[in-house]
Amino acid sequence: MAHPNRMTGSLPVPNVQALAQACNRPDEQIPERYIRPEAGAEEVISGYDSTSAIPVIDLSKLCDPRSSHEECVKLGSACRQWGFFRLINHGVPDDVIRDLKKDMAEFFELPLEAKKAYSMLPNSLEGYGQAFVVSEDQKLDWADMFALVVRPNESRDMRFWPADPPSFRTSIDRYSCETARVARCLLELMAEDMGVEPESLLEVFRGQPQGLRMNYYPPCRQAGEVLGLSPHTDAAGLTLQLQVNDVPGLQIKRDGKWFAVDALDGALLVIVGDILEILSNGKYRCVVHRAVVHPSRERISAAVFHRPCREAVVGPLPELVKDGGGKARYRSISYLDYMKRYFSAKLDGRSHVESLQIDL
Ligand code: OGA
Ligand code: NI
Repeated sequence: MAHPNRMTGSLPVPNVQALAQACNRPDEQIPERYIRPEAGAEEVISGYDSTSAIPVIDLSKLCDPRSSHEECVKLGSACRQWGFFRLINHGVPDDVIRDLKKDMAEFFELPLEAKKAYSMLPNSLEGYGQAFVVSEDQKLDWADMFALVVRPNESRDMRFWPADPPSFRTSIDRYSCETARVARCLLELMAEDMGVEPESLLEVFRGQPQGLRMNYYPPCRQAGEVLGLSPHTDAAGLTLQLQVNDVPGLQIKRDGKWFAVDALDGALLVIVGDILEILSNGKYRCVVHRAVVHPSRERISAAVFHRPCREAVVGPLPELVKDGGGKARYRSISYLDYMKRYFSAKLDGRSHVESLQIDL
């Protein structure tokens, strides 16, 4: 059976880091394919207003029996109303985060030829390159990606795991263990909040499959006219995002407005993905998000996607739709089919999850 990351490739596109070096000189224009009229078209809430509005969840409070109930109510409300929150006191050791950040930054600084040793192969979405480019006339995102399948361990394809910097593989492995632990803990509490047995939710994520996507957004002189990553929802249960340097760029959408998410405050950013919206029968909302770029500074981020196991069926959890529990609001589909559909189209807001929605 095809692995989700090996079923559909992306059309080849230029390396954006190299392109940026060539066309960030004065008098140079960036190619038309990167110009996005929609980039500045909608209101963006930023600064104190966005920071004070976006929910913050404290994992140490969630895990402490004295405060767990109260914090779990906050968690549920963040997942229902935002599909996004900042997670503090997550327990991922500082050195694990520091080492990953350092190795990622060093990797992207390597000469292009060295990075190309890990290029995505045709019909693959693992390695260094770009995803979601499905037609020659599609607009392009101002970023390079580096994607790896990190869990379960036997699904790792070490050809794509960089040997340079030398500590990179260990850094990824340690970060992967820590984030898997955090994700499991969150899923268990989310099950409690949804009113289902934790096992029935955890079973969908058996073996804790995990993918890592490192995003590199070069600076762009015409930053206001490009997008680093098109608006999308994540094809995952839960994504944990790390801002690797202090350049902001992530924006999340709520009630038709974009909220800019500050960079670097030690928090992990938690994104509710499509699959959790469907499993929860719409109790939780996946969040549409995008990334913008900076005029003079590079931006780096790392997203860890927690995905269903290969055999999983993605559909409302039976406990939520049986015995008068409510009607299913989404069709069920095999996880592999879901991923095939996701990777064979361009990124487009909530389109994937909406294609499974049932009009009641
Ligand atoms: C992603 C993503 C946003 C960012 O990789 O799916 O949404 O801030 N990244 O880089
Ligand atoms: Ni995303």
